[in-house]
Amino acid sequence: MIARQSIDDVLNVAQIEDVVGEYIALKKRGANLLGRCPFHDEKTPSFTVSPTKGIYKCFGCGKAGNSVSFLMEHDSLSFTDAIRKLAQKYNITLQEDSVQNKEEYNEQQQRKESLYTALLFAKNYFVEQLTSDEGRLVGDSYFRERGFTQQTIDLFELGYSPQGWESLVNEAKKNQFNLDFFVDAGLIKKKEDGHYFDMFRHRVIFPIHDLTGRVIAFGGRQLVKDDKSPKYLNSPETEVYHKSHVLYGIFQAKKSIRNLNNCYLVEGYTDVTSLYQSGIENVVASSGTSLTEGQIKLIKRFTDNVTVLYDGDAAGIKASLRGIDLLLEQGMNVRCVSFPEGEDPDSYCKQLGSKEFKLYLDNQSEDFIFFKTNLLMQTVGNDPIKKTEVVKNLLVSISLIPDALKRAVYAKECSKLLETDERLLLVEISKLRKNKSHIESQIIDKEITDLLKTDVKIEQSYSSTQEQEKNLIRLLIQSGHKKFMEEATVADFVFKELREDEGLELEHPIYKQIIEDVKDQMDKEFIFDEQFFVNHHNTEVRTMAADFLTEKYELSPHWGESGLNIKTERENYVRDLQSLFLFLKKSKIEQMIKENLEEMLKEEIAEEKDKYLHFHIQLIAVRDDISKILGTVINYI
Ligand code: CTP
Ligand code: MN
Repeated sequence: MIARQSIDDVLNVAQIEDVVGEYIALKKRGANLLGRCPFHDEKTPSFTVSPTKGIYKCFGCGKAGNSVSFLMEHDSLSFTDAIRKLAQKYNITLQEDSVQNKEEYNEQQQRKESLYTALLFAKNYFVEQLTSDEGRLVGDSYFRERGFTQQTIDLFELGYSPQGWESLVNEAKKNQFNLDFFVDAGLIKKKEDGHYFDMFRHRVIFPIHDLTGRVIAFGGRQLVKDDKSPKYLNSPETEVYHKSHVLYGIFQAKKSIRNLNNCYLVEGYTDVTSLYQSGIENVVASSGTSLTEGQIKLIKRFTDNVTVLYDGDAAGIKASLRGIDLLLEQGMNVRCVSFPEGEDPDSYCKQLGSKEFKLYLDNQSEDFIFFKTNLLMQTVGNDPIKKTEVVKNLLVSISLIPDALKRAVYAKECSKLLETDERLLLVEISKLRKNKSHIESQIIDKEITDLLKTDVKIEQSYSSTQEQEKNLIRLLIQSGHKKFMEEATVADFVFKELREDEGLELEHPIYKQIIEDVKDQMDKEFIFDEQFFVNHHNTEVRTMAADFLTEKYELSPHWGESGLNIKTERENYVRDLQSLFLFLKKSKIEQMIKENLEEMLKEEIAEEKDKYLHFHIQLIAVRDDISKILGTVINYI
């Protein structure tokens, strides 16, 4: 059974014109919409939809109802299935409720209704008070001074609470209300002696509405600065006001949020009213508290895109960073706008005027990754440790994003911004996400392996290790005995390199044999020259030597391949040999990359897999270094 609260949630959010609009074309007709009835055949439209009432009625066939009954009738769904369908449309997670006691539920519902009634009564009273003598003088003039128009005051149902201690108390008594409901709604307090007094006194009032426009709480702002009481006084948590699930302005903004597919998130009541007044209607406030998951879910019913506008002070920006992470975690696309120091969206909007302010928002809004990077990098300077911290901080944010593809895109962006290896970032992100579900980590694995595979593919076209070994031997046979530098021969250099890097041991058995023989010869201080190879006891070596020595030119091992037939001069040996070894090293490394990758794919234990990944990253770094050097050597030639 779907919990009552979830059903209420769906009913609150479902917009009849959206639901019906998916099935039939609707045209605006005054406050209503008109279309051809889907339930009977008609030529002239008589099917009327009223968005404000949330209902439809056909004046032809008489069918009428709300969003749920429309789906039930049109798609032949049960009530529960219709609710489920709507919940899906509006991104509402339905709570299942097994044993909700009906009586208990009804009782609770009735109590809530009483609170709503008290809140509605209070709201009307505060609105009315704005036009009383005292209200006009104090409250209304305050709003006017701050530039609130009558339209804004009406739309947000702004009001005024008089100076006296018992204004609302007396008004409620006069209307024979049970004052305890006012107490439960956070409007009135009861002293120990049984006397009641008003919570909100001498303040301008900002009613807080739920999604359906019902008043559920109030914020009251002091009129003159007085450090003895808070600038804003807010209703406490009550049975109908759960702060963590409420956003100021959502009722007024929801339509625009859906239409524009974006929501501006600000901090304060006045930021909302001010922006709305400037024509930016898709704006809500977290009302000073730090953003909660519940608040984000509320936005998510209407859009996946949030632009965070926070005050231009350090605290505001810190708050925005926490908020950003939460938003990312909920799968939101996050953009940010910062304001000059000391300004908030309200003050800056007034300063620039609506047109300029809108331009400012459009021009200044940037994806969170740029915003956060810029913000954090300001303090880094040249300190590599601090930079690492920034990278880590950014990675935490990225790792919270539920969508794997998006994470990969952000990792790429981050690697560009901070000039850090993309693979390394992906590995760190995957570590940060390790605690998440198994399936998650499989997705990440795939992400990384795909990337790694391209690493290998790109470079595989380069010459194989054997080809490079052959080049080395060719050089040794052709020129091993020749002077290389001062007294050293080419062979001396070759052995020095081979000694220094154990990983360079040749693989091909014949080549290996040749190297060992030459080494042996040199150790015995025998002179070896071309003849040594030509007369070698091994037939294969003899043939090979003959081949190499009859080549018309002594080719530079690689420039020959690339079409440049350069006759090797002695002074070219340096470069020849260096690049030859580099090529050899490179192809060795590439082979290691391939083998390591194969091992990694076979590995099932996450920690072990990680080790392979780290090794991979090191190998790639070495390979890239070699490529860089090779690039300069070749260019030099
Ligand atoms: N707030 C609060 N209690 C306070 C101060 C602030 O609840 N003592 C909340 C209010 O919801 C307020 C928001 O935090 O709207 C942002 O605070 P602030 O920037 O100080 O107020 P503004 O909305 O800018 O109000 P004003 O323009 O009237 O100064
Ligand atoms: Mn502010």
